[in-house]
Amino acid sequence: MTTTESVSPTALGSGTAATDKFKGERATSDTSPERLAAIARDALSALHAVILEHGVTYPEYRVFKQWLIDVGEGGEWPLFLDVFIEHAVEEVLASSRKGTKGSIEGPYYVPDAPELPAECELPMRTEDREQTPLVFSGQITDLDGNGLGGAKIELWHADAEGFYSQFAPHLPEWNLRGIIIADTEGRYSIRTIQPAPYRIPTDGPTGAFITAQNGHPWRPAHLHLIVSAPGREPVTTQLYFRGGEWIDSDVASATKPELILDPVTGDDGVNRVTYDFALDPA
Ligand code: BEZ
Ligand code: FE
Repeated sequence: MTTTESVSPTALGSGTAATDKFKGERATSDTSPERLAAIARDALSALHAVILEHGVTYPEYRVFKQWLIDVGEGGEWPLFLDVFIEHAVEEVLASSRKGTKGSIEGPYYVPDAPELPAECELPMRTEDREQTPLVFSGQITDLDGNGLGGAKIELWHADAEGFYSQFAPHLPEWNLRGIIIADTEGRYSIRTIQPAPYRIPTDGPTGAFITAQNGHPWRPAHLHLIVSAPGREPVTTQLYFRGGEWIDSDVASATKPELILDPVTGDDGVNRVTYDFALDPA
């Protein structure tokens, strides 16, 4: 079996892949010029206030400049922003929603994964079959609990060593990724494996930033999902595992109590859990 000792994707490798994928779809927004000006002004003022409060010196300013250059050259902006900034943007979105809680998307989503039926197994390697199986079932409903025909779950997660396909060169393209088409009542049952906690690559400038704060680089084990249905707001979210390591100290500040699964291990060694999603109207 592959081990973290033998395979260790670098910050540069996974950062460059994440940057290339993000650049593939040029970001746009319909922000008005007035709103943009106000946000830009306030962001600068907040930074100026930190500089004045801490009496930042010229050598420190130059180190900061160098670090910003290093983040860009290492392709680490998607990584850095999704660890330290995205959760606040998600909080803004969550404040207008009543249905299932959202969480950050992170840098490792890839669109157009293979479509799978409502009862399915995610694509996985032979090695992955040696890991703890997880059967994850439930229903996608509206806010009143009515099942939603035409609902879909885009699911992606790390393997048992914490690696994501397409961001770690040793993994097949669609490993542990799929788009599950729920049945006519929005029900699904997916067989996969228990993911491992994820460690942010520490050999680049994001790692240096974490070390500088005496922080740790870990995210608790999680599943990523985008759940959607016709006429409903899609929700981008994550599900975690009760008692999982790092659940109370996620480096990306993206856990929520409503998003914690409690799987039960059967006599057959399979972990089983159900989770239902409620989608807001569009
Ligand atoms: C993740 O969920 O895998 C993730 C989130 C933020 C930064 C890096 C990874
Ligand atoms: Fe993740």
